[in-house]
Amino acid sequence: MPDPTEHSADIKVFEEPQWATPYTQASLIQTPQVAPNQPPHQRRIRSFVVRTGRMTLGQQRGLQVYWPTHGLELAAGPLQLETCFAKAQPCIVEIGFGMGQSLLEQAQKMPETNFIGIEVHAPGVGKLLAQAGDLGLENLKVYQADAIEVLEQAIPEASLAGVQVFFPDPWPKKKHHKRRIIQPPFVDLVRSRLQVGGRLHLATDWQPYAEHMLEVLQATPGWRNCSATGDYIERPLTRPLTKFEHRGHKLGHGVWDLLFERQ
Ligand SMILES: C[S@@+](CC[C@H](N)C(=O)[O-])C[C@H]1O[C@@H](n2cnc3c(N)ncnc32)[C@H](O)[C@@H]1O
Repeated sequence: MPDPTEHSADIKVFEEPQWATPYTQASLIQTPQVAPNQPPHQRRIRSFVVRTGRMTLGQQRGLQVYWPTHGLELAAGPLQLETCFAKAQPCIVEIGFGMGQSLLEQAQKMPETNFIGIEVHAPGVGKLLAQAGDLGLENLKVYQADAIEVLEQAIPEASLAGVQVFFPDPWPKKKHHKRRIIQPPFVDLVRSRLQVGGRLHLATDWQPYAEHMLEVLQATPGWRNCSATGDYIERPLTRPLTKFEHRGHKLGHGVWDLLFERQ
C-alpha cells in the first residue's frame, strides 16, 4: 500500500489548456508533447498538458486520506477486477473525469456497477477522492495517470462493460489535431479492453470533434453504432451533466453523444 504522505509529496500536477476548462485560467506553457520516460522511437503524443498548479486543502486531504482505499497505482501492474472492489460486478472506466462530479453522481446512482476514473489533473483527483471517501463509496476507484498507459498496462483484455470519455480536450487547431485522444489506435485499444457487447460512450460540445469521432469509429472495424439515426444519440439519463457541459450550455453550445458497442 503506498504511503499517502509520500504520494502527496510526489503529486504530479496536471492542468488543461485554456479553451477547455472552467477551473483554470492559465495559458499553455511548456507543453511536453510526448511522454518523457519512453525511448525516442516509442514516444507518444500526449492528449493533455502538464503544468504546475495549486491544490486546495480539501483536495490535498482527499489524496492523503483516501488514496490508500480509493487510489490505484499503475506500477502495481494488471488489475484483478474481480477482487479489487468490494463487490465483483460490471466495471466502467471513465477517462478524463476533470473535477469528477459527474462520475461521483453516476457511482452513487449505480451501486451495482464498479467505476474506475482516470485523470491526470491532481486537483480533480483530490476532489473526487475527498467526496467519494467521505461518502464511503465502495464502487469507485481512481488512477492519476495517462489513460493510455492504464488501458495498456493495467486493464485486462475483454474485461470492461463500458468506457466513457466526456468532453475530451478538443484541440481545435489543425496542427494540434494529432493530440486528440479519439484516434484509430485509441479506439482499437478501448475495443480490446471491452467485453463483447461492452460500450464506448463519447460526448463533446465541439461539432468538428464530434464529426471526427464519428468518422474514426465508423472507419474502425468491430463496432456497432447504437444510434438509431446512424450518427449521434440523445444524452442517456445514465450520463449526468458534467461541469464542463454546464459551462457549455451557458454559452449556448450544442452537445453530441456517441454510443458504440463492441461486436
Ligand atoms: C476538457 S476536460 C473535461 C473534464 C470532464 N470530463 C468534464 O466534462 O467536466 C478533459 C480532461 O481530460 C483529461 N485528460 C486528457 N487526456 C488524458 C489522458 N490521456 N489521461 C487521463 N486524463 C486525460 C484532462 O486532464 C482534463 O481534465
